[in-house]
Amino acid sequence: MKMPTLYLCLVFFLTISTMASVSSASLKVGFYKTSCPSAEATVRKAVNKAVSRNPIIAAGLIRMHFHDCFVRGCDASVLLDSTPGNLAEKANRANNPSLRGFEVIDEAKAELEARCPKKVSCADIIAFAARDSAYKVGGINYKVPSGRRDGRVSREDEPTQNLPPPSFTAQQLKDNFARKGLSLDEMVTLSGAHSIGVSHCSSFSNRLYSFNATHPQDPSMDRRFARELKAKCPRPSNSGNGRDPIVPLDVLTPNKLDNKYYKDLKNHHGLLTSDQTLLSSRATAGIVRNNAENDAAWANKFAAAMVKMGSIGVLTGRHGEVRKNCRVVN
Ligand code: HEM
Ligand SMILES: *[C@@H]1O[C@H](CO)[C@@H](O)[C@H](O)[C@H]1NC(C)=O
Repeated sequence: MKMPTLYLCLVFFLTISTMASVSSASLKVGFYKTSCPSAEATVRKAVNKAVSRNPIIAAGLIRMHFHDCFVRGCDASVLLDSTPGNLAEKANRANNPSLRGFEVIDEAKAELEARCPKKVSCADIIAFAARDSAYKVGGINYKVPSGRRDGRVSREDEPTQNLPPPSFTAQQLKDNFARKGLSLDEMVTLSGAHSIGVSHCSSFSNRLYSFNATHPQDPSMDRRFARELKAKCPRPSNSGNGRDPIVPLDVLTPNKLDNKYYKDLKNHHGLLTSDQTLLSSRATAGIVRNNAENDAAWANKFAAAMVKMGSIGVLTGRHGEVRKNCRVVN
């Protein structure tokens, strides 16, 4: 063998071995096949039971995956309870009081600890539960790569720094998602999760009563729709008395995960500024129209984007831990 060939072989070998160590540190479909074969079925059973009782739990679990992954990566930091010395993500306004479904995760975890102790991470349980919710209320099924491990840190201030507020414009949403490695198309596609679930009036009531100096009402909202919402949502400043009702995010099919959300936007029935801006902005209007026209294409993109979101900042291999109780570090 000539010298350059030998050198090339060495470079080749090193490249292959580096690739192997990278892929062993990333997620894979069927991670629990031998260590806990019933892992995914156990989560699905818990989700189906809870969502059959109350469909809105599906919305909570899909949103939980988003709120987990955007803050410190998908490491179940969103599940940790506050402790005497530390206020956790759960205490942040983005999560409290609106994030729901924690008891479903607890139930699945308890059953998995009985079957295969300390094998199945809380972060993977959230990812499975989000997928199972999408299947139950939208018929959207996809394989979830797993092998995430759980983090040991959760801080109250971090959701504010990482999650987009409902007041964001398309450009701000684009930048926010780009920081997490998600594209403009993925941002618009994942916003389709607002095809289920509800919002508190406080998340959008500025659009009804105090938009800006010249327009009390957001002109990008249909007038009649605004009137209906005003009948349900009190004016923020006076008489509200802390009352903060909830209304559906998707008026067409509030309990079905589908592309009707994008039809709402075309009708100027988007509830949040961050929803309607996707039609107002030239950069995203075309994506909204395409998603509104083709439910199957949107559903496929949604599944792929959920998988991508599920890989943000994951802990794998020897990093992190597998919690015994999703609410506390080991
Ligand atoms: C694009 C930026 C986003 C913003 C600004 C945003 C903001 C919000 C807000 C303000 C609410 C209502 C909270 C309340 O007042 O009760 C909400 C609900 C919800 N969000 Fe988002 N969200 C975004 C993206 C996402 C993504 C990517 C997902 C999941 C893939 C998601 C899933 C949900 C679901 C399912 C609900 C309803 C929750 C329930 O009824 O329990 N959102 N979102
Ligand atoms: C208020 O909003 C409208 C509609 O978006 C806009 O045309 C107008 O310039 C805004 N006015 C002020 C004072 O910001």
